Amino acid sequence: MVSLVICSGKGGTGKTTLSANLAVAMAQYGRDVLVVDADIEMANLCFHLGVDGSSPTLHDVLAGKADVTEALREAHGVKVLPGAISLTALKHTDPERLEEVLRVLDAHDVIVIDAPAGLGRPVLTALSVSEAALLVVNPEIPSISDALKTRVVAGKLGTSVLGAVLTRWRGAPEEIPVRDVETVLETKVLATIPEDANVRAACSFGVPLVLYKPDSPAAQAVKKLAADLLGEEYRPLKIGLGRRLKNLLFRL
Ligand SMILES: Nc1ncnc2c1ncn2[C@@H]1O[C@H](COP(=O)(O)OP(=O)(O)O)[C@@H](O)[C@H]1O
Ligand SMILES: [Mg+2]
Repeated sequence: MVSLVICSGKGGTGKTTLSANLAVAMAQYGRDVLVVDADIEMANLCFHLGVDGSSPTLHDVLAGKADVTEALREAHGVKVLPGAISLTALKHTDPERLEEVLRVLDAHDVIVIDAPAGLGRPVLTALSVSEAALLVVNPEIPSISDALKTRVVAGKLGTSVLGAVLTRWRGAPEEIPVRDVETVLETKVLATIPEDANVRAACSFGVPLVLYKPDSPAAQAVKKLAADLLGEEYRPLKIGLGRRLKNLLFRL
């Protein structure tokens, strides 16, 4: 079992979107994957995977009101441990208990942990329960600056940073280039995920992009990242000329 935390420092970088899609992509490579919403205060992973965010959830488990197995859902080939969407669920929730909750679930090949933004207690818990981390960054200075803090803290907690995922990339001249991201964060950019309007549509339907638009450049980038992380061979989808041209134009 490997636990992989998806973290960033800054909010809104694309952690939850990546967590849902990476988990489903890894399951497509035959792995038994659990994805956990560890954003205790702003849980919203359930929407990306189209699962119910009402009780019992991780919040009930952390409050000692439910058994972890009761809170598990299954969607799109992955197990999901959603957080609660209600504000009142935050009462009596103890994020410190996350570690013991995850220990019970160690039968999975991979546990993907969707971390909150910032460097508060829940983030520290998510980092410290994970063996490895991916830093999600956007090609802009604030995002990279915040990710650097997370990188340093991850190092102090003994979480191995596998690399960065540069997401919401548009290829615009003002964007920070990959090599600069790598220099600042002192880690490799493992994937570049383009800005894709389908991400929003996919979330509206509760279906991750890798299933909603599997031939889109963003979905293919996630699929390749999943393959690379798992040591699997990535085979791009065979797509028609129209889509190929569209993808090419999109990348320019
Ligand atoms: N590749 C992408 N293309 C377009 N929009 C994206 C992409 N990745 C994420 N988003 C959008 O960015 C916003 C923040 O994403 P989210 O995954 O919730 O970030 P975080 O979990 O880091 O706060 C959402 O509106 C989401 O739809
Ligand atoms: Mg999030």
